[in-house]
Amino acid sequence: MSFTDLIEKHKSWIERTFEKLDEKLSHCAVRSREKIPYTVKDGVHDDRKNNITWWTNGFWGGLMWLMYEATRNPEYEVTARVSEGLLEKAFEEIDGLHHDVGFMFHLTSGASYRLTGDKRSRRNNLLAAMLLASRYNSKGEFIRAWNIENSEGWTIIDSMMNIPLLYWASREVGDDRFKYIAVAQADMCARDHVREDGTIHHIVMHDTTKPKVLGTRGGQGYKEGSCWSRGQSWAVYGFILSYIHTQDKKYLEVARRVADLFIEETKKTEWLPRIDFKQPETPLKYDSTAGAIAACGMIEIAKCLEGAEAEKYLAAAICILQAMEKNWCDFSDENDSILQMGSEQYKGGVHIPIIYGDFFFTEAILKLKGSNFLIW
Ligand code: GLY
Repeated sequence: MSFTDLIEKHKSWIERTFEKLDEKLSHCAVRSREKIPYTVKDGVHDDRKNNITWWTNGFWGGLMWLMYEATRNPEYEVTARVSEGLLEKAFEEIDGLHHDVGFMFHLTSGASYRLTGDKRSRRNNLLAAMLLASRYNSKGEFIRAWNIENSEGWTIIDSMMNIPLLYWASREVGDDRFKYIAVAQADMCARDHVREDGTIHHIVMHDTTKPKVLGTRGGQGYKEGSCWSRGQSWAVYGFILSYIHTQDKKYLEVARRVADLFIEETKKTEWLPRIDFKQPETPLKYDSTAGAIAACGMIEIAKCLEGAEAEKYLAAAICILQAMEKNWCDFSDENDSILQMGSEQYKGGVHIPIIYGDFFFTEAILKLKGSNFLIW
């Protein structure tokens, strides 16, 4: 079945799911206008305004821009602008900002500039790109993760989702320096974070004076050497985005390899992803966010392929999204969150709604609905 035939087959489910998202989010956009939500407490969005450099603070504004682009409902635009105004304060807390400025600003300021031409948003996004570029270690050839003590040589797979900010900055200012850094990071991640079998190291420790791996760490997964599913999903979506931005085929090949592993593992649990693909059988711990992120990546992979190859990735994305919609989505107005069963890490924050679960689930449904607005 071709890409279009498969979409056609699921058209009514896609449309119905989108309508439920719009119905709920249009109410939440007003209710949570002055907040920067992360999760919910008793069904009500919490607010991370007082922790303004928190890495997820761009997802609410980004979600509002995605919905604005799809519907042109001005309520979404108003909330997105309020969110960016709050987020700007993060630039005053420079020590708290790190490699995640892409997640924070590219989804809010970047989307705002691209959709409305707002010059202040352009400035914010360029500032974020400069901050990210300044973290590049030119001797070790990597972008440093976090700011924690004694971690000068650490990199994480999540960074693959931050480098689209650098591809954008290169194009925007007409200067390849940002792109050189993004490509160096993508090459490093392909070489040092992706294992032979297609699984992912979450954290890699590098020599800071030359390109050399010193060791790896388990990070948010079950343990060192295991396979944290969200890290896997950052790789699925991150590598295909690098392919889209550079047209370098090796990133498409890596994206397919890591997606194949994700598909094989997720099939084993009826398309509902576990937190770690190498976790013990019990307790059975899930992470919905990994499924939503990977589905976005798989749809983009499918768009870059043809025939049966494309169908494989699109079909897997639809299976994951449908399983999650049936089992884990709450479209009621009594709960500000939609996608339940997210997990921060194997050891804590398990089975809670997390804002980027709602962001990526919505992004995936919009892709299926035919949106070509690639926010990354
Ligand atoms: N970027 C951190 C995480 O995925 O939890």
